[in-house]
Amino acid sequence: MDEKIYLIVEKYLHEKGLSHDIAATFEDVLIIDQKSDIPSRSSIKDTRSRLARDFFLNIPVVSANMDTVTESQMAIALARLGGIGFIHQFLPIEKRVREIEKVKRADSGIIERPFTVGPDLNLRAAREMMKKWQVSGLLVVDSDTQKLVGILTSRDVRFEDAEDKKVAEIMTEMPLITALSGTNLEQARVILKKNKVEKLPLVDEEGHVVGLITAKDILKIEQYPLALRDPKGRLSVGATVGVSGDFLTDAAALVEAGADVILVDTARGFSTRLEDAVTRLKNELGADFPVVAGNVDTPEGALMLIQAGVDAVKVGIGPGAVCKTREGPGVGMPQLTAVAECAAAANAHGVPIIADGGIRGGSDFCKALAAGASSVMMGWIFAGCEETPGEQFYEDGERWKIYRGSASLEFQISRVDRDESEKLRAPEGVPRRVRYRGEAKGAVEELMGALRSSMSYVGAWTLEEYRRVAKFRRQTASGYTEGKPI
Ligand code: XMP
Repeated sequence: MDEKIYLIVEKYLHEKGLSHDIAATFEDVLIIDQKSDIPSRSSIKDTRSRLARDFFLNIPVVSANMDTVTESQMAIALARLGGIGFIHQFLPIEKRVREIEKVKRADSGIIERPFTVGPDLNLRAAREMMKKWQVSGLLVVDSDTQKLVGILTSRDVRFEDAEDKKVAEIMTEMPLITALSGTNLEQARVILKKNKVEKLPLVDEEGHVVGLITAKDILKIEQYPLALRDPKGRLSVGATVGVSGDFLTDAAALVEAGADVILVDTARGFSTRLEDAVTRLKNELGADFPVVAGNVDTPEGALMLIQAGVDAVKVGIGPGAVCKTREGPGVGMPQLTAVAECAAAANAHGVPIIADGGIRGGSDFCKALAAGASSVMMGWIFAGCEETPGEQFYEDGERWKIYRGSASLEFQISRVDRDESEKLRAPEGVPRRVRYRGEAKGAVEELMGALRSSMSYVGAWTLEEYRRVAKFRRQTASGYTEGKPI
């Protein structure tokens, strides 16, 4: 290690109560109790933290870009709660774009480009569109003038069984309750309430559709006060690309669809390939667009990515619940040390760390942040949740879902976009069945409850303070056992 980095890392570890000699992980340490003026965990209101240089989360929770963890449903659930999900990279680009679009259309304050149909379309086709896009209404516009002529809602189609009927025969025709472009959400709320309608099309002076506001979306905004939203009021979402193939054009398409941050992800992040990919992505997307990259597990790896221009470094090699990297190639670093050392190096550059993998519950989550991470990416914690992709199944009298490593043999075989000629690699991951655990909201509440409590023990009102003041003490194996209920 370069002597200057060594000294920075050494000092940081010393201040944290960690040692440079032995790499440690979550179970090896405890967070030290400190004098606190926080009356109770519920007094802590501010849990904002940086995901990337200039990109804040309302809670430091990130779902893993894995095919059994994050597609649009999980991303929607997390963004509503204030975190973020990264849509995985293992789908053809059109499908990834579609997943991003689904997030952007969920709970959108103002839908800028609502789905429209012509009055001559038949009911069958209209129903298919509603199903495909998971929307309960379509605006009907005149095919020539493109002006609004009606609306087709689920109520209009519910009991209609003549599938060949034209939309014009079934829709609710003009005059409808509409508002002019520029109407804001508060004004829309008043109009929707007064007229007892569910949908408010926005039109320009000539009657062309320029947007749509729905009662459901307004209620969602009130229901999820911490929701992470983009400047247009839509839920935020991350997208992932790899380092090979058309990753530059893929990234551009994902950003065009509305992705708020791009993750460039590869198992071996300390590589010239990732360095080059980051530089090219920053050039392609512009200096201000957040690009995060990983995975690395050393300060040198983190610094290489920072010099290439990343806005956050993702840290973790082999700590994951379905990882075999440490068993196979024997490479990796216990995660607490990896996070602390990378944070030490990245702090000086103002670049945040995403701790990725190895979190089994609230205390690991807290320790990752206390070690210096600004956000925590998790797969295992969310595997088995309602919102993960994949079917539920019953076995041994219980309900399960599948969670599998992205480098597992099973995953490689099933890859939808796998080129038949592509060779299977020695697996560095495994598949597991995991108990069905209900909505992701429950898992997030558990994590955040533990974090608020930990912040109150340490006396930190904000996460920035928590990261700064939290310190560890190494514990013995019997100390660890003592800490477990009998
Ligand atoms: P957790 O512990 O939260 O970890 O389930 C999720 C992270 O694990 C990584 N990952 C893998 N690592 N082989 C590996 O060595 C794999 O097959 C694999 N699949 C996922 C990834 O960083 C993820 O975010």
